[in-house]
Amino acid sequence: MNSRYRVSLDNHTYISQFIFSNFSDVPELCYLLFAIVLLMFLTSLTGNTLIGIVIQSTPALHTPMYFFLVNLSFLEIGYTCTVVPKMLQSLVSENREISRLGCATQMFFFTLFGISECCLLASMAFDRYVAICTPLRYATRMSWSMCTQLAGVSWSIGTLVALGQTNYIFSLNFCGPTKINHLFCDILPVIALACGDTSHNEMAVYAVAFLFIASPFLLIIASYGFILADVLAMSSPEGQRKALSTCSSHLIVVTLFYGSGSITYLRPKASHSPILDKLLALFYTVVTSMLNPIIYSLRNKEVKAALQKTLGKIMCSVQDKN
Ligand SMILES: *[C@@H]1O[C@H](CO)[C@@H](O)[C@H](O)[C@H]1NC(C)=O
Repeated sequence: MNSRYRVSLDNHTYISQFIFSNFSDVPELCYLLFAIVLLMFLTSLTGNTLIGIVIQSTPALHTPMYFFLVNLSFLEIGYTCTVVPKMLQSLVSENREISRLGCATQMFFFTLFGISECCLLASMAFDRYVAICTPLRYATRMSWSMCTQLAGVSWSIGTLVALGQTNYIFSLNFCGPTKINHLFCDILPVIALACGDTSHNEMAVYAVAFLFIASPFLLIIASYGFILADVLAMSSPEGQRKALSTCSSHLIVVTLFYGSGSITYLRPKASHSPILDKLLALFYTVVTSMLNPIIYSLRNKEVKAALQKTLGKIMCSVQDKN
């Protein structure tokens, strides 16, 4: 137990610094994971930035669906940048410490981006529902102000939940071990370090998280329920195929996000093994954010064409300069 970071205040100790654990029992694994995660991190940054640039610079893609997609890419960049750099550092370096403030900041942004993403995915599902089920009123119902409001509400909910959760957790008393059995300051591994009986804190955190993760999910399910009913009622197979193709990318992204999220967070406690947990967390944060731009650009002719055009322009301007 490292006593350097403990300061005695009154008669309880105050922890000013935490330490991440890594895969120290299997050191070779660390370098391999470092290389893989670094590669995925860079792919994710490039992909999400590129999607943003391509959509902004292509007037044909200035529609609600792509407005939300740019916002989602922006979220993904924030999300990975909050967690991955420090994670990479702790994988290979001896310096795996994080200050209490740093840990709180990381948790705040991680929660903000995570909850906002749930809400944004629900807004995107609502957009598809309006487009497919009420096509004639789409332009009036999904106006620009509606889009910015939906995105704004998503960000606000994320910010409020993150503020509440982080504030609540860091007002707990930390006096015991400083070693976080995880690769970043995720909520449950940090609560596990608080002193005393934390089971009701865990329950409160679970309840809030469940409310703000499950409600958007229910909205998504409802939207797709209506979409499916509408598509099944269509008489032409061509119309059915077209309707489904506009929401397939979003449906894949939702499945990935919620699927990997449930595997990481909803497994029964008895089955938790720290190594598996850390591996899952590692991939959960980078894999989904790396795949979003790939899914949207590969499955979408409009984006693919715009991407080729933008890349062509970049190549040309580079050649002109030489
Ligand atoms: C995302 O949506 C918010 C709220 O409408 C807006 O202020 C912000 O500029 C958007 N971000 C991007 C990158 O489009």
